[in-house]
Amino acid sequence: MTTIDARDAEARQILRTNDRGGYTVPTHGLYPYQWNWDSVFAAIGFAEHDMGRAWQEIETLMSAQWPNGMVPHIVFHQIDPGYFPGPDVWRGVGPVPSSGISQPPIAATFVRWLLALDPGGEARARALYPRLVEWHRWFMTWRNEGGAIVVTHPWETGRDNCPDWDGPFAAIEPEGVDQYYRRDTTHVVEEERPRRWDYDRYLYLVKLGAESGWDEAHLGRVTPFRVADPTMTFTLLRSTRDLAAMGRDWGEDVSELEAWIGQMEAGAETLWNPAIGAHDTLDIRSGAHSGVVSNASFLAWYAGVGDDRLLAAYDRIMTEVRYGVPSTDPHHPAYEPKRYWRGPVWAMLNALVALGLAEAGHLDRARALTDSSREMMRENGFAEYFDPRDGAPAGGRNFTWTAAVWLAWASPNTRNAIWAAYI
Ligand code: GLC
Repeated sequence: MTTIDARDAEARQILRTNDRGGYTVPTHGLYPYQWNWDSVFAAIGFAEHDMGRAWQEIETLMSAQWPNGMVPHIVFHQIDPGYFPGPDVWRGVGPVPSSGISQPPIAATFVRWLLALDPGGEARARALYPRLVEWHRWFMTWRNEGGAIVVTHPWETGRDNCPDWDGPFAAIEPEGVDQYYRRDTTHVVEEERPRRWDYDRYLYLVKLGAESGWDEAHLGRVTPFRVADPTMTFTLLRSTRDLAAMGRDWGEDVSELEAWIGQMEAGAETLWNPAIGAHDTLDIRSGAHSGVVSNASFLAWYAGVGDDRLLAAYDRIMTEVRYGVPSTDPHHPAYEPKRYWRGPVWAMLNALVALGLAEAGHLDRARALTDSSREMMRENGFAEYFDPRDGAPAGGRNFTWTAAVWLAWASPNTRNAIWAAYI
């Protein structure tokens, strides 16, 4: 049996090993670049033992911000032929080679947490503030459908192949996609990765964006894929609250941020689907909800808009699995417990769900989720994701964000003040 102390040491070692100097990769091989929200999680892991490095992780990410405010989902600092699609396919237009889409904007929240853990870092937080505001403004300008935040590519939500995309994808004929050779299935068995059918459509959407020069106004009009998503809406709402709180402390005018918060609170409600008793995605093109309860649905508490309507779905799903929160409702016909976002448990999302539950006053549920996540990682290590039936590790191994949330949240030795204040 691996001890807690041994896991702590292993988690720190994973952060060290995945450190490429100023930024971390999610894991060696499968993901050889800097990913947006992975890095932000890495920062809270570093904060356990190296605050300077924690700040630097987010600063490096923000240095890839585009002139229009967008912060890309992948930053290609050093070219690695082992990953596809790379910079030649994406053709990003920022200061550093990058992808052309964003990822869940959790950074402002985590900057506020870093500041709480390290008040001496105020100058660094203040330097990041205007960049974060610009990024949020990009979402509110280009990705705002009645206050719900839309994506133009599934990868933008960080939930790459979840069943929510099956409906919108069925309406897409991926014409004109060049021959391509996937690299992900050379690192991880095919059963744990997206299918070819999905991949064709992912690449079709990348091509559409790249050919437009990532012109958001144009894409807003022509893309067949425009879907409002709970991950984006809830993380941006939470981050905007945290950004406004910092701005207020520093005497900034936060009226624009407050207006965005009001819009997103209303937008979140448009994602509520009474048929499933949860928030899900809403396809702007067809007007249809996906009808899938996902782990992102349970970020409503983290966003401050979760109410007791959501508890029934949460309680039902958590009794159906040994380890929650599954990324797809086990009752849904598309549930696959080992395939990426179609069933597996993601520890870093659990960290946010648990915090949100605790903040909403559901302390028993928050503690239970923390305890079961701790057990899952102590027994099975720091995999990319886990099988909800038995916690079996799946996908990539030695994963940065899994190790990071162990250090910041799940390890009883090192749990930091952000979670410990509640749980
Ligand atoms: C996958 C995940 C995404 C993550 C990336 C790197 O694309 O779906 O959420 O950021 O891998 O770990």
